[in-house]
Amino acid sequence: MSNQLPASNDNPAMTSLDERVTELLGRMTLVEKIGQMSQVNAADDTIPDNLREDIKAGKIGSVLNQVNVDIVNELQRIAVQESRLGIPLLVGRDVIHGFNTVLPIPLGQAATWNPELVRKGARVAALEAASTGVNWTFAPMIDVSRDPRWGRIAESLGEDPYLTSMLGVAMVEGFQGADLSQPGMIAACVKHFAGYGASESGRDYNTTNIPENELRNVYLPPFKAAVDAGVATLMASFSDLDGVPATANRFLMRQVLREEWGFGGFVVSDWSSIEQLTVHGISANNRDAAFEAVNAGVNMEMASTTYADHLAELLDDGQIDIGLVNEMVAGILRLKFEMGLFENPYTDLSDFPATANDDHLATARQAAKQSIVMLENRNDTLPLKKESLGSLAIIGPMADDPYEQLGTWIFDGNPALSQTPLQAIREALGDSVKINHVRAMETTRSRSTDAFDEARQAAEDSDAVIVFLGEESILSGEAHSRANIDLPGNQAELVRILHETGKPVIAVILAGRPLTLANIVDNLHAMLFAWHPGTMGGPAIADILFGAESPSGKLPVTFPRMVGQIPIYYAHKNTGKPATADSFLHIDDIPVRMFQTSAGMVSSHMDAGNTPLYPFGYGLSYTQFSYADISVSKKEVSMGGRLTVQAVVTNTGKVAADEIVQLYIRDLVGNVTRPVRELKGFTRLHLQPGESRPVSFELDTSDLAFYGRQMQLITEPGEFHAWIGGSSATVLRAEFTVISE
Ligand code: BGC
Repeated sequence: MSNQLPASNDNPAMTSLDERVTELLGRMTLVEKIGQMSQVNAADDTIPDNLREDIKAGKIGSVLNQVNVDIVNELQRIAVQESRLGIPLLVGRDVIHGFNTVLPIPLGQAATWNPELVRKGARVAALEAASTGVNWTFAPMIDVSRDPRWGRIAESLGEDPYLTSMLGVAMVEGFQGADLSQPGMIAACVKHFAGYGASESGRDYNTTNIPENELRNVYLPPFKAAVDAGVATLMASFSDLDGVPATANRFLMRQVLREEWGFGGFVVSDWSSIEQLTVHGISANNRDAAFEAVNAGVNMEMASTTYADHLAELLDDGQIDIGLVNEMVAGILRLKFEMGLFENPYTDLSDFPATANDDHLATARQAAKQSIVMLENRNDTLPLKKESLGSLAIIGPMADDPYEQLGTWIFDGNPALSQTPLQAIREALGDSVKINHVRAMETTRSRSTDAFDEARQAAEDSDAVIVFLGEESILSGEAHSRANIDLPGNQAELVRILHETGKPVIAVILAGRPLTLANIVDNLHAMLFAWHPGTMGGPAIADILFGAESPSGKLPVTFPRMVGQIPIYYAHKNTGKPATADSFLHIDDIPVRMFQTSAGMVSSHMDAGNTPLYPFGYGLSYTQFSYADISVSKKEVSMGGRLTVQAVVTNTGKVAADEIVQLYIRDLVGNVTRPVRELKGFTRLHLQPGESRPVSFELDTSDLAFYGRQMQLITEPGEFHAWIGGSSATVLRAEFTVISE
């Protein structure tokens, strides 16, 4: 589908689509129009009488949360056969990272830096969801997320606008395919428009204050990319943006989305977010709230009923006119026509492959495997060599918990399908290695140390220790923000005790967000960060632990040393007094009564420095990669021209492995200050030991554009730096200049 609708007489398909919309609108009563703008929760396992009656009366345009195919078909039947105009329903569901087959949380999928795999994962999810009659998902969440305290960072694709755009588009394409009317395709909904990721202090639903320049340069690009890729719908955010809650924000939904971007799809509110406008204090009551939202351009109301209750009154009183209602309804009808719902409203389960089939599980395993980021590997502790292991201790609350490895938003996930790390390790090792398993803590939050002696004993009795730590599912996700992002409970103490045994201790961390790990890192030989890896987390982790494959995940988000560094992200501004690694004095080294202005005078924290524990883009491998010979195809590129930046990557280690090669640039001088680095390209390479390969990235000068003081997208002439490497901390640099003629 296209959002930039061509003039209708240029395109016969569009003409007929527009004509169908206009024709249908012309036959609708006001009640039926407002009905299309109303979405209700239909989660029950029977159809309540009032829902049946409302659908019959044309008062419902969409339902959400029903995944029983028979009930969905019955709901569609009522809509199509028993309502006056026979308009089918949109059936929405949060299919966030898989359906019955659960893929890694989106933040984990982002760590794969693999759009192709992410697209495939969304396809799997779409197929499984569509088999139940769901035809619309509230995904992907493409809120740029720079605060690991925020529970919903788990649903995000990380901190970077470019990575989020690439992977968000891949998800949209995976859900929607090239043609929404084809079987198994479901409409996507990018959310939450806009700025939700900037919730103050990472507390969910909190206020955001985002200057327009930052909004346009950081938070909006993924939405623009999704709109350009043809996403069917957007969801308005719960959050307050600079004093105007997103759900009532005309600037966002009128000026930017429709006028500037030419979006032709529709916007749904978040759950009761229209009603909540009154709680925010932007409207006095539900009627005013409905007025604000419809005026701003929210086509459909989720859950609350301010539209159903008040739009007619607002029309009667002349506060809104019917043209606005028609416009809102047309967006919804257009999608229903495009999806072919009028022709095929029903779902036949037998048209679909079984959910959680081998192919789907294989995709989930591949995604989980590529999402694992190796953070530490001292003395090449990993991979473990099966042959030289006599015994292995498997410790910790996340080693064998089929539910907790799935992560947040798994309404349709089935823990019975989960393969846990313990199961997979047993399978990988067979009988040749004795496994000493101790859960040690009931949950990741447990404070009890009662089972720690048993854990210590298991470690002492084993050649190596793998400790599965992290956060259980409920500690991240919506409304599950944390102010302290250390490993919860007594996990750090458990690590300390295991370390005391002198055995190699390998931590595998399953969590929904970056954690502050400084208090365990010195007590470990190796550390894998596996996010919440989903159904196939166990086998994926075992594949990595025993070297069937080298880890290749890279962090899609910065890991701070301590929570007080937040917000900390790689694409920060330089400031007038930037710190370097040795330009600040640590709090412990500051002499008593030192003269005030002698201590560094740079932008840094005295107790944490200016660097994170692990930077964006970072992740180790079982091999080493070296980067050399960076060059640019031209030193000067004219405005509108292109250049390539290239370097040679060599696998200098002993095993074949994937590497994610990353391109960063810096615009040295701008009419607004520019970030010290910005990701502009990445690619996944597979290199054999000893193999070298040139990698090149093409840049168009439009790729260097940003919103300047006038809020216009511009590329400015001047000097640029370009880096190629394996993380955002890479030092291999080239320079080029953009010239105006
Ligand atoms: C969330 C949305 C979600 C909706 C429907 C809301 O609470 O913010 O992201 O799609 O619920 O479940």
